Amino acid sequence: MKIIKFSIFLILVIGLVFAYQVGETKEAEAPSYGSMKGDMKKGKTFFNDNNLGKGTAGKYCNSCHPGGKGLEASGEKKEFNIMGEKQNSLVEAVNFCIVNALKGTAIDPDGQDMKDIVSYIKSLKK
Ligand code: HEC
Repeated sequence: MKIIKFSIFLILVIGLVFAYQVGETKEAEAPSYGSMKGDMKKGKTFFNDNNLGKGTAGKYCNSCHPGGKGLEASGEKKEFNIMGEKQNSLVEAVNFCIVNALKGTAIDPDGQDMKDIVSYIKSLKK
């Protein structure tokens, strides 16, 4: 009898430890999933979107950078110079073009749209 009770107790303990571990790994993986990562396919669609930043110039990124042409090295650069003005990050460069080329409003530098665009530009690397 004792051995049966002990076995049941052991199984319960193992089960609890296992369930706890599964719960923990799920929580640890959650933040880096989905919302935090850029979606390069979505970023590519923004290059064809003349509503990006509600631009009023009637242009989109592809008007001047067709298929991302000329931006192959941008994903790795730390400094940019567009139309004679300096930008200190890719995010700033993208917003500079949204404001000055599309005549739109800068988008949230930490937002999902920006992450998607950055991830598309990084994917252009040759
Ligand atoms: C009216 C034309 C025009 C439009 C539209 C335009 N850009 Fe630009 N962009 C430029 C010019 C000019 C430069 C500076 C010269 C160059 O690097 O090609 C530049 C530079 C850049 C750079 C930096 C390139 C580098 O490595 O130095 C990035 C990144 C960029 N644009 C992203 C975008 C994005 C994203 C959009 C759409 C939101 C966009 N551009 C729309 C004209 C434009």
